[in-house]
Amino acid sequence: MAVASMEEELKSIVEQAKDGVQELASMADYEAFKAKFVGPHGLLTQKAKTIGKLPAEERPKVGKLINQVKGELEAVLNGALERIEAEELAKKVGPAIDPTLPSPDGHRGVLHPLTQVRRDVARIFRRIGFTIAEGPEVESEWYNFDALNTPEDHPARDEQDTLYLPEGIDVKNVSRKGDERYVLRTHTSPVQIRTLLKEKPPLRIISLGRAFRRDKVDATHSANFHQVEGLYVDKDVSVKDLKAMLDYFIHELFGKDAKTRLRASFFPFTEPSFELDFMSPNLGKLSNQWIEILGCGLVDPEVIKAAELDPEVWTGYAFGGGIERIAQILYGIDDIRLFYQNNVKFLHQFR
Ligand code: DAH
Repeated sequence: MAVASMEEELKSIVEQAKDGVQELASMADYEAFKAKFVGPHGLLTQKAKTIGKLPAEERPKVGKLINQVKGELEAVLNGALERIEAEELAKKVGPAIDPTLPSPDGHRGVLHPLTQVRRDVARIFRRIGFTIAEGPEVESEWYNFDALNTPEDHPARDEQDTLYLPEGIDVKNVSRKGDERYVLRTHTSPVQIRTLLKEKPPLRIISLGRAFRRDKVDATHSANFHQVEGLYVDKDVSVKDLKAMLDYFIHELFGKDAKTRLRASFFPFTEPSFELDFMSPNLGKLSNQWIEILGCGLVDPEVIKAAELDPEVWTGYAFGGGIERIAQILYGIDDIRLFYQNNVKFLHQFR
């Protein structure tokens, strides 16, 4: 009789444990829960203490029952302990990973704005049949000045304006006319001469690269900057051809709404010479005003002669301008130094 009711009570203790164990979420929960059953004042411990009061013949049976229940409780508690430990560990180590997957993208880089403009310009001219020509950054005086009809007394040839290499230096991999001095090229125009001496016209090329001047660096000057040079040599090239090409270029760069004008100017290597101005309605602060963008003109007969061609047969147009200048106008940048400081906050705006 007493055994039967004891059996009932013990069963209900196991049931309670099985139900309660599912809600345990931490080691603290678990410890408290365990104490509730098998601790010094736990439910099972209480029951075990009553054995002494039972009639002697019932004690072995009840003792056995208690042991059995104890085993069951332990199994339930151990199951919970394993689950909680696994959960706490999982929380610490984070979500499962697959080490065979490629690593996640880090900071995605972005092309420098000058690189973007350089590539845009190259793409625009490639579409109308221009190829890319290159020339050395260290130039000889003849290529940089004389062949471009720039006389000895021209201010650009002054030591104050141009970076000359020391006298007597021979740059082995840069050919020169005689034994003239070398300079860091002050513009990309000498590529015109090197190309004409190497390839036979008709030809059309652009050249993109560094140029150097002896300038103090400030918001509008940099001793090292970048230019684009263009040259087309063929028979009967006229200002009309030049203007048509420039209109195409400006429309591609700044949109179809842009207007252009040629303004008379002077360069030793073109005749006539012009500045190209353009105006656009959607250029922020620079909207609706004439902006000077590059120099151009028809190739001077003296340049054709320097390139060992007959100026009675060959004519051409040329143009040249700053990559920085184009980028500044396109993106509204008012300080040229920003291009060279590699400030990531600046660069990341050009995505
Ligand atoms: N070389 C000139 C400069 O650096 C730019 C230039 C003007 C290039 C007129 C040309 C040209 O080819 O025709 O300022």
